[in-house]
Amino acid sequence: MIGAMTGEELRETMRRFPAPVAVVTGADEHEVFGLTVGSLVSLSLEPPLVGISVGKDSARHEPLRNARAFAVSILSEAQAHLAQHFARSGVPPIVLWRDVASRDGTYGPLLDGALAWLECTTWAEYDAGDHTLFVGKVVSTEHGAPGRGLVYRDSTYHPA
Ligand SMILES: Cc1cc2nc3c(=O)[nH]c(=O)nc-3n(C[C@H](O)[C@H](O)[C@H](O)COP(=O)(O)O)c2cc1C
Repeated sequence: MIGAMTGEELRETMRRFPAPVAVVTGADEHEVFGLTVGSLVSLSLEPPLVGISVGKDSARHEPLRNARAFAVSILSEAQAHLAQHFARSGVPPIVLWRDVASRDGTYGPLLDGALAWLECTTWAEYDAGDHTLFVGKVVSTEHGAPGRGLVYRDSTYHPA
């Protein structure tokens, strides 16, 4: 139906779209941040580019801009608790990493047990309404143990 479209209607429609879940991490001079995203998309192979769309209102938006680089952990089916953890608001940076098993990557922590990891430098930023589309140039990737991934659909996590 064509008419005045609201964000809430789009959200309602996109609930039906299964979105793979990943955690974006990075560091600026103040903090090491982590953020759950369902917007990771492969954009280009030559050069290798991926995109993530991050809300301008998010507390992690400015740190991500300042960092000019980010790491991505593609979550496995067993990591819904980490998706919830890194989607939580107002968690102080120190508390954020308590009890989270990770190792240092070049640009941000890489979560243990993920299906795969990407390390990116920020290649471009595009204004996308209330979000910014961050395009990352993929500098390296690594694979974890093979297994099922995690997708978010109808406000629920599913193995995929
Ligand atoms: C499955 C899932 C996917 C999400 N995907 C995104 C995303 O692609 N971009 C984004 O900005 N926030 C996304 N969020 C919300 C963020 O993880 C986070 O909750 C939000 O940025 C609020 O953070 P703040 O309290 O620091 O502002 C997602 C949350 C969940 C649970």
